Amino acid sequence: MQLTVGIGLLGHGTVGGAVSQSLKENAETIERRTGVRCQLRGIATRGAGDARALIDDPRVDVVIETIGGTTDAADLVEHALDRGRHVITANKDLIATQGPRLIALAASRGVGLRYEAAACSAVPVVRTIHDALAGDSVYAVAGVLNGTTTSILSAMEEGVEYADALSDAQERGYAETDPASDVAGLDAAHKLALLVQLAFETAVISPRIRKSGITAVTRPEAQQAMSLGYRIRLVAAATRTPSGAFAEVSPALVPLAHAFAQATGVENVVRIDARGAGTLWLRGQGAGGAASASPILGDLVTLVREMARAGDRGRSIVPRFDPAMQVAPLFDALPRLESLPQYPVWNDAVLDIHNSGEFIHA
Ligand code: HSE
Repeated sequence: MQLTVGIGLLGHGTVGGAVSQSLKENAETIERRTGVRCQLRGIATRGAGDARALIDDPRVDVVIETIGGTTDAADLVEHALDRGRHVITANKDLIATQGPRLIALAASRGVGLRYEAAACSAVPVVRTIHDALAGDSVYAVAGVLNGTTTSILSAMEEGVEYADALSDAQERGYAETDPASDVAGLDAAHKLALLVQLAFETAVISPRIRKSGITAVTRPEAQQAMSLGYRIRLVAAATRTPSGAFAEVSPALVPLAHAFAQATGVENVVRIDARGAGTLWLRGQGAGGAASASPILGDLVTLVREMARAGDRGRSIVPRFDPAMQVAPLFDALPRLESLPQYPVWNDAVLDIHNSGEFIHA
């Protein structure tokens, strides 16, 4: 008998709109690849009440949350999991701050909670850590994880003033609704926390990560960095030691030839270090409707395959969270230039602190 999976879509903005479009375009492909027909039962666009009614519709098996933020979205995701719905979310703020609790809730209800799109949109970092490296031990994750700051900093290198560069990033639709989240380093910290939770199996949430943004970076500094052979980029990095973790988000001087300096526009560049696999590099679109719809549909395909195999039980991504893991800042270990001492100089070797087996407090 043909299995049909009903989908309830929460939100219809940039990401939600791209998901409904993509579901339409790929319905047959998904059915061929999974043997399951996915039917969009409804789209909730009129607030939390409307969304709750859709979640409660007994024909809805999978809820796709694209509302964003941590107020209504948190209540709705919790409600959906409580009602036994599988959830796919693109909401990094939510996973970065409440992920461990929601993942535990999903596990206790026997439903799936998947969030590939929440980290770096189209760049498959969650799958890489959770699936490809499941038999390995990941000890470092680092990258340029925020497109808005990359585009502002590159514009300043070309001589554009900070305020104009920010308006341009907003017009292009890269920035968060409140762009303070981008420029203060919060958005990158959320993404780093989400990756650290998965990679280090810890309940570290983004407020515990030291972060500084790019609001104080000036056009002359961006240009001076270039003349010295660097680009200022917002770097997010974390590494694990036997006794805890180091994690930080900060503007840093990245050597021009380094992969982190090659990101353009909304691209994210991520390196993942694992003991067996060594260093993996991932680069691609870190924002945008179509770039987020792709991993959401990928998560849907994974979920419905599991549902088809196991009756009605899609599996969650369930790290074994260590609630006690300590987190210390990382960038104090980096050198500074005499001529531009405001920013640490990025060096991949800092990720090898894990080898010392000790926290190094500067
Ligand atoms: N504001 C984010 C960025 C969007 O600039 O990267 C994607 O998360």
